[in-house]
Amino acid sequence: PIRIGVLTSGGDAQGMNAAVRAVVRTAISRGAEVYAIFEGYQGMIDGGEGIRRFEWDDVAGILGRGGTVIGTFRSKEFRTREGRLKAARNLLERGIDRLVVIGGDGSLTGLDTFRQEWPGLLAELVASGQVDAGLVAAHERLIIAGLVGSIDNDLVGVDSTIGADTALHRILEAIDAISSTAASHQRSFVLEVMGRHCGYLALAAAIAGGCDYVLIPELPPTEGWEDEMCATLRAGRARGRRDSIVVLAEGATDQQGNRISSDYVRGVIEERLGEDTRVTILGHVQRGGTPSAYDRWASTWLGYEAVDEVLTASPDAEAKVIGILGNGVVRIPLMRAVKDTQRVPELIRSGDYSAAMQARGPSFTE
Ligand code: F6P
Repeated sequence: PIRIGVLTSGGDAQGMNAAVRAVVRTAISRGAEVYAIFEGYQGMIDGGEGIRRFEWDDVAGILGRGGTVIGTFRSKEFRTREGRLKAARNLLERGIDRLVVIGGDGSLTGLDTFRQEWPGLLAELVASGQVDAGLVAAHERLIIAGLVGSIDNDLVGVDSTIGADTALHRILEAIDAISSTAASHQRSFVLEVMGRHCGYLALAAAIAGGCDYVLIPELPPTEGWEDEMCATLRAGRARGRRDSIVVLAEGATDQQGNRISSDYVRGVIEERLGEDTRVTILGHVQRGGTPSAYDRWASTWLGYEAVDEVLTASPDAEAKVIGILGNGVVRIPLMRAVKDTQRVPELIRSGDYSAAMQARGPSFTE
């Protein structure tokens, strides 16, 4: 039978379990065998109990659970050829030559490297007598599919990465909670949210939460932004608004690329407006807890599609990342999606906002 491996890599994200469950059950329904690889790429390198055959019931009851039950890891060893050689051997010995990986752009880039190196790694294993040439002949190519699991929503070409919707809900719960205590005291709050170099969570939360001001990495504020922010907060108070909330993306910088800290924003508000100001850094609360309805059904759909991809793709086709765009599933060449994503900050820095804003759809390079 065809053997498919599935793993989660990088930061965990709500909905990863739904994707793993869908991969396992779709694979079984299609007559394939499926192996869960524990602790991300590290489990593939370590082998042993880190790679376990999964049956239907092994994924029972995980759909609504946060995190990833098969564990995740940011493996440094997988970044080395030595590590990838060990991983290839462990897969080959088990007859696994298809992989579904749920992770961020770094994890998916590593996956593509592994796929490209696969024939060379196999040749090396045969040459060094570690595996039998007959075994290699049956698994000459590695077929992969990537799903983007990251609360940051930082991949160009898809509407939402796995976990982003839940994280946004979590932030909104925090905004609602903060706004009631802020209003009671007529206080200002600076709320720092995750997202790495992407401002999606901050911007979407600020809009959905009716906040006063937002700072995101994609649009470093122009000089004098502090005056604008204070004027906005002052105007709110003048209209009778009792709570003020400024949302700060953790990756927000000024025009020179210096990080804007929540403490700095708090200091500005206190000094210029004389307001009692508090800081809340939400941290990993955003990544925890049960997945939203969207992250459950969308990840289930994506897991299903990923299995279909590894079972039907031609070994010569470019590796794909699978996501949802405009209520449909899209299969985007993996490296193009990663490259387009990396271009966004560069376009913004060069002042080409319109090109950056068009960074939507399967590819904005076309
Ligand atoms: O990429 C997901 C993310 O939660 C980012 O938003 C954040 O910057 C980072 O991971 C935190 O990483 P760690 O869990 O290693 O502290």
